[in-house]
Amino acid sequence: MCGIIGCVAEEPVAALLLDGLVRVEYRGYDSAGMATISRGKLGVKKGVGRVKDIEEARKMSAMSGTVGMAHTRWATHGGVTNANAHPHASCKEQVAVIHNGIIENYIPLKKALIAKGHRFKSETDTEVISHIVEDEYKRTKNPLRATQAAVKKLKGQYAIVVMFQDRPDVMTGARKDAPLIVGVGKGKMFLASDVLAFIGHTDRTIFLDNYEVVQITKEEVKIIGPDGREVRRDPNQVAWELSDVTKSDYAHYTLKEINEQPKTIVAASVQDPYKVAEFARAIKRAKSLFITASGTSYHAGLLMKFRLSKEARIRADVVVAGELKEHTEFLGKGSVVVALSQSGETADVMEAVREAKKHGAKAYSIVNAAGSSLARESDVTLLLNCGPEVGVAATKSFTAQVVVANLVVDAVLGKKKPDRLEELSEAVADALKCDGQVQELVREYRDRPDFYFVARGYESPVAMEGALKLKELSYIHAEGMPASELKHGTLALIEKGTPVVFINPSGPNHAESLSNAEELSARGADVIGISDVRDQVYKHYIQIPKVSPKSTPIVEAIPLQLLAYRMSVAKRNDPDYPRNLAKSVTVK
Ligand code: M6R
Repeated sequence: MCGIIGCVAEEPVAALLLDGLVRVEYRGYDSAGMATISRGKLGVKKGVGRVKDIEEARKMSAMSGTVGMAHTRWATHGGVTNANAHPHASCKEQVAVIHNGIIENYIPLKKALIAKGHRFKSETDTEVISHIVEDEYKRTKNPLRATQAAVKKLKGQYAIVVMFQDRPDVMTGARKDAPLIVGVGKGKMFLASDVLAFIGHTDRTIFLDNYEVVQITKEEVKIIGPDGREVRRDPNQVAWELSDVTKSDYAHYTLKEINEQPKTIVAASVQDPYKVAEFARAIKRAKSLFITASGTSYHAGLLMKFRLSKEARIRADVVVAGELKEHTEFLGKGSVVVALSQSGETADVMEAVREAKKHGAKAYSIVNAAGSSLARESDVTLLLNCGPEVGVAATKSFTAQVVVANLVVDAVLGKKKPDRLEELSEAVADALKCDGQVQELVREYRDRPDFYFVARGYESPVAMEGALKLKELSYIHAEGMPASELKHGTLALIEKGTPVVFINPSGPNHAESLSNAEELSARGADVIGISDVRDQVYKHYIQIPKVSPKSTPIVEAIPLQLLAYRMSVAKRNDPDYPRNLAKSVTVK
């Protein structure tokens, strides 16, 4: 979940490291640090908080040295303190390490190192790596071999970057179950957890595989595979559009990304028809079919399942990725697992897919980040094409997932006629016009402790998505559920003025849902209707445009995303960087 970037160059690296650090800050943002080697001396600066708020960060840009590394942290082991921020230097400050992941066996390793005389300065699992590398470097006198030997002792997940005080010409790295990417520039070479970290300098990338160890100089990359042999891999070119990660005129990335949706849903629909057909064929032939994902992507998976069973009469089990390993009885040769993920790096999703493959299943994925672990480890991948999503809350990736999932289900159904995406795009633009109304709602309900989101049938996952968005951005307790469940418990919590967002488009469930809305209103709830048809039961009504039933979740998601965003701003939270969260959840 942490952001890492390292660089060896022919020019000073501090400014470009700082720039890269801000770009990967969405991965974790409770503390940050940087290390460079200058005049044969390792220098480290770190601090607690967002990069923009860290006093030491101002000094970071002035650090000299043509080799350096930087890190933004999402704490796992050890509190959010200066001492626990990365980089971590070894006892003699000869080696410095940054790390993303969790070292599961760090306690026995730490005990053994202490017994050998090593002194620890932090409570982190990471620090053991710098001490082990220090020992191995003393023994091998070779940075690459020392790194190879060190990672053999680690259990868990890691992407690490290592610097050696007496070798300012090289930097090493290694990965297992956490991303590490080489950026091949002119006169500068990068190691980073994300292409975004260095995309301003080069679009040539090499994605490292699990158990590979790498050494970079300013001109060369050397990769060693798990069998100890050198691996030759040419750089791939990634899209320069990735470099467009500015907020433009928007106050926050989240708001920008919400407003991009009239375009991103069109981009998502541009898919290779052969790949879509292959995806659909696999679903139709599957002996057992699982859909797996986490968080918002899980909600998109629920929508996909609904259409598969209702329209295509294909049974699919939707399982939260972190739980799939508990449901392997029906996974085997001939099974298909469909994984949805914005980042393609979510640890739970990766574990689920690997587990399914181990049982003989084929993996089909819907992913935003090309080149991500999920994209590379899947048998077939459809990309969301919605551009980088920086805000921690998934917004445009959700609607893009619905578009791509719909394309796949349409192909399963043998539907030939393409959808009129321009109309849907206009409808999304129309839905965005509710922002003013949403702000009024926020003024009225900003001090309420609880919110409920309800819907029926196909719209139920949208209710769950509305609740998730509000929780993560505004820190207000929220629950999303099928309207039918209200009377089985939740009605007891409804009091005078409790806000209940009711998602109720016209269609087969409309009348039944209105009865539920009446029941809520009779118990004092303020029902906020989101629908294409007004009703007197709604105390507040947000009109959404009428679109095809399968695309209705896309237009319904817009007011829910805006509600969460505006509530966050009203409560003076940072919507782009909600507390305790990170964009890419690469730990289990
Ligand atoms: O990158 P992924 O789609 O795999 O991420 C899954 C969840 O972590 C993610 O959707 C999370 O729930 C979002 N912050 C929700 O807005």
